[in-house]
Order: sequence, then structure tokens, then C-alpha cells
Amino acid sequence: MIELQGIRKSFGTLEVLRDIDLRIERGEVVSIVGPSGAGKTTLLQVMGTLYRPDAGHLLFDTQDVAGLNARALARFRGEHIGFVFQFHQLLPEFTALENVMIPALIARKGEREARLRAEELLAFMGLADRASHKPSELSGGEQQRVAVARALMNKPDVVLADEPSGSLDSHNRQELHRLFFDLREKMGQTFVIVTHDEELAKLTDRTIHIVDGRISEGPTGKRL
Ligand SMILES: Nc1ncnc2c1ncn2[C@@H]1O[C@H](COP(=O)(O)OP(=O)(O)O)[C@@H](O)[C@H]1O
Ligand SMILES: [Mg+2]
Repeated sequence: MIELQGIRKSFGTLEVLRDIDLRIERGEVVSIVGPSGAGKTTLLQVMGTLYRPDAGHLLFDTQDVAGLNARALARFRGEHIGFVFQFHQLLPEFTALENVMIPALIARKGEREARLRAEELLAFMGLADRASHKPSELSGGEQQRVAVARALMNKPDVVLADEPSGSLDSHNRQELHRLFFDLREKMGQTFVIVTHDEELAKLTDRTIHIVDGRISEGPTGKRL
């Protein structure tokens, strides 16, 4: 469903991604691991169309998004890709429900429909009774579940998560991880998750190891 072919990305003279080939299938939960500075976040940003690669192709199904201008790309991103970051990045002055609705409102969907879906998603996350709370009134685990609900608002093809459980304690971390697999089970949702959490990496269908801007080879010479 998502395919990266020969992706390269540099910042100035620093080569961060060097010839990345990768394919993610619909409904997969894939983890990306590797040392700090290896290029994991950059890879996720390229997959999420937030950075344009210097070379290579990024295909969603058969559509090469390189051909889209900035405006079309922003629309594509809003409709097809959900993001979850280490720190929830919810808007502090809005309630949980409003935060979840925002992607739909940006995509110019009707407010009524957006509200219904946001309520449904929050209920799925076990947060129905927290809908009218502001982020500061929620625990770290709850904030991250709201961020996941927001990512799912427009029924994205894929959710890209960058160390989503990195700031949570072990109980909330496990809950968040369980949620990803529930969402795959119930909605067929695809996830690509950058993580330092070995337990999570073990649970995923596949782990991609990034070292020095490349997908590293396993000991047998096979790609891990
Ligand atoms: N916007 C940027 N401008 C310049 N250098 C960057 C930028 N983003 C990341 N880098 C550099 O690229 C390298 C890879 O960063 P990153 O993808 O964030 O790694 P990781 O997520 O694996 O820790 C690092 O050396 C980082 O300093
Ligand atoms: Mg990173």
C-alpha cells in the first residue's frame, strides 16, 4: 500500500536517508527501531509527506505523491495520513472532543458528522466521559489516546507514530500498545511506529532496523 523506492534525504551536507526501499502492506503494524540520530524520524516525515525526499519515489497504492504541489499534498496528507507524536501536541485551549474533530473540520467535513465520529472514537478509546476535558485535565495516557483518536479522525490509510509511548509510564505504555493492535483488529488500521520499546517491537508484525540512514541487513544477510 505504501512503497518507498530509493529514497534519499539530506540536510545540507548531512546525508540522513541513503537509498531506502520499503513496502508497507495494508493492515500491517510495523515498527522502526535504531539508534538515536539514525534517521527514523526523518524517514517517518518523508513517509508522511512532511519532507520531500531529494530522490526516490513515495507511492500510496499506485499514486506517486512526488507529483503533487504543496496544496494538493497538504490535502492528501490530511485525508490519508494520521500522525501521533511523542508529546501529544493537542491544542490546550480546546476540549478532547474538539481536538479530535479538528482534522475533519480542516478537511471541510460537516461539523455534525465530525462530532459524531469524534464521540465514537473517544468512546472506543474508553474516554467517553473525558470528552469535554481540556488536555491539561487529562493524564498522559489519556492525552495520548486522544491524540490517537485525532489521528484516526479522517480514516487514514496509515497512522505514523513517532515514539508514541516514549513519555508514558509502563502501565499507560502497555495500554497504548494494546490499543494499536485493537485498532488493527477492529478497523484494519495500518501503523508504522518508531519506538525504543523492545516489547512493542516484538509485538509488531515486522521490525525495520535503521542504522546510519539505511535499512540494516540481518546476520544472515537477509533484510530484517
Ligand atoms: N530539520 C533538520 N535539519 C538539519 N538536520 C536535521 C534535521 N532533522 C534531523 N536532522 C539530523 O538528521 C539526523 C537524523 O535525525 P532523525 O531522523 O531525527 O533521527 P532519529 O529519529 O533516528 O533519532 C540527525 O543527525 C539530526 O541531527
Ligand atoms: Mg526521532
